[in-house]
Amino acid sequence: MCGIVGILGKNPVALDVVEALRRLEYRGYDSAGVATLENGKLTRCRAEGKLRNLETKLSKEPLSGLIGIGHTRWATHGRPSVSNAHPHATDKLAVVHNGIIENFAEFRAELEADGFRFESETDTEVVAHLVTREMNRGLKPVEAVGAILPKLRGAFALAFLFSGEEDLLIGARNGPPLAVGIGDGEMYLGSDAFALAPFTTMIAYLEDGDWAILHRNSVEFRNVDGQVVNRQAQMVAAGAALVDKGNHRHFMAKEIHEQPEVVTHTLTTYIDMVSRKVRMPFSETLDWSKVDRLTMSACGTAYLAGLTARYWFESLARLPVEIDVASEFRYREPPMPASNGVAMFLSQSGETADTLASLRYAKSQNQTILSVVNVPTSTIARESHIVAPITAGPEIGVASTKAFSCKLVTLASLAIAAGRMRGVIDEAREAELVQELIMLPGLMTQALKTEVDISRLAQRLGKAKDVLYIGRGTSFPLALEGALKLKELSYIHAEGYAAGELKHGPIALIDEDMPVIVVAPHDHLFEKTASNMHEVAARGGRIILITDEKGASEISIKPDSTIIMPTMPSTFTAMVYAIPVQLIAYHTALGMGKDVDQPRNLAKSVTVE
Ligand code: AGP
Repeated sequence: MCGIVGILGKNPVALDVVEALRRLEYRGYDSAGVATLENGKLTRCRAEGKLRNLETKLSKEPLSGLIGIGHTRWATHGRPSVSNAHPHATDKLAVVHNGIIENFAEFRAELEADGFRFESETDTEVVAHLVTREMNRGLKPVEAVGAILPKLRGAFALAFLFSGEEDLLIGARNGPPLAVGIGDGEMYLGSDAFALAPFTTMIAYLEDGDWAILHRNSVEFRNVDGQVVNRQAQMVAAGAALVDKGNHRHFMAKEIHEQPEVVTHTLTTYIDMVSRKVRMPFSETLDWSKVDRLTMSACGTAYLAGLTARYWFESLARLPVEIDVASEFRYREPPMPASNGVAMFLSQSGETADTLASLRYAKSQNQTILSVVNVPTSTIARESHIVAPITAGPEIGVASTKAFSCKLVTLASLAIAAGRMRGVIDEAREAELVQELIMLPGLMTQALKTEVDISRLAQRLGKAKDVLYIGRGTSFPLALEGALKLKELSYIHAEGYAAGELKHGPIALIDEDMPVIVVAPHDHLFEKTASNMHEVAARGGRIILITDEKGASEISIKPDSTIIMPTMPSTFTAMVYAIPVQLIAYHTALGMGKDVDQPRNLAKSVTVE
């Protein structure tokens, strides 16, 4: 996903723009660029690859302008190259863009017929020429932008600066987020508050369809119809210090290891440690006893957290649950309860386009919208009736880890609260379950101690062409998550399956070249999974078993490797068994020399569909 920055400053801005772009690196990118106004004239510097390449160029050709825009590009239209890197410019303006202009092709043909020449393959350059054409027809910059925005279809966040306009920046948003930062005689634009944290914590977010006209001492917000609207600025402490890796090699490693700590933060939000009761900040607005059905939708790892939580809502609250990936849900447009329906949307970033679209459909069906997010100021949060923050802290690694476990803890707390409100579990059972949650940070800390063994088996796993993960109950979504992690980090093909499904097809895959990773705590389903392991062993399959002491002692076959988890109650094993699943993917990818924090082709948040 691309990153956008704009600074209307009192001093030269180029290096500050790059500093802000560095705080957006986690979104994934393949090129970057800056444009500033030098004595009224537009000057650009762009480079392929990482920001250090742009900085090298800037050191040779410094930019001294007091107003600038910058961009980190995650290619959607046109391959990664300097000519496709943003900002795109004409003689009158420069523009940076995050998202997709769906109707760019028709405009490009029209503009070329009008004699406009394109230097790139991007949809963004179409916007530059469209606004320029309006200015050639005599419109001022603000009117020209106002004339073009309603014509653009698709998801976009844009930032413009104009030749000769030393006190003007324009930002626009329709989909991907855009924040306005308000400084002391300076103004800022950024894809999120985190990028602007070194300059200001006073942030106003544009809503969909909004655009903002920035001068150094004022900002005007307009809606898609051009009417002036009010967007309240708020203090957003987005972590002034650049999130660093601590003493870890990668953000992902740091985030795996900080799970016990951040899960503790999440627990303090939803659990009263003293009374051993669940504490729901919004229990007065959400009476689970009146809810007929819970609908869930999300993408990727967030979806798998929901798939896990379905077991808890069904078993602890006897609440019917429907769940689907957001990219399917939004187009299925399923019938939803006419009354008493709750629709839950899970998202680390809170900006995933498919999840947001699903939320908007459910809202149109009069569902109570509950979002479980890591960014409470995100679009998904701001469009929800109720927000359950997961408090994982900034998650920088593209592969989601701590956000997964914090979502699970949040969802488990919600399921217990629902069970209490629906009279399914009594106070004593609530206290037991809360105690199980309170034990999680310690159990996760123990699970982290398997890292050395895992790094050894990961060296062998890196040679596999295909890997199968299997599990039952809440270990089934964990098998899917393990496969997703391994795929997205090591690029090895991996599949997750319900263990009971093996004999309905996948067992045909089993041979001595096929590692089978079995997620199997010793719970009520262990024996069933054990017989699946026998079926795999009988066909020469190589088993990597993740279980506890009891499971390891009871299994009669000899796995290739066994990773022993701490003995624990069976309800919430997913939070603990997620750790070896994450570490396997991390160390396999590390051993293969992959870019663990920014895997190829991936973005941290997919704000386009
Ligand atoms: C997870 O490791 C992936 N990076 C991806 O599947 C991610 O979970 C998905 O894109 C959803 O993102 P969100 O939680 O920000 O909505």
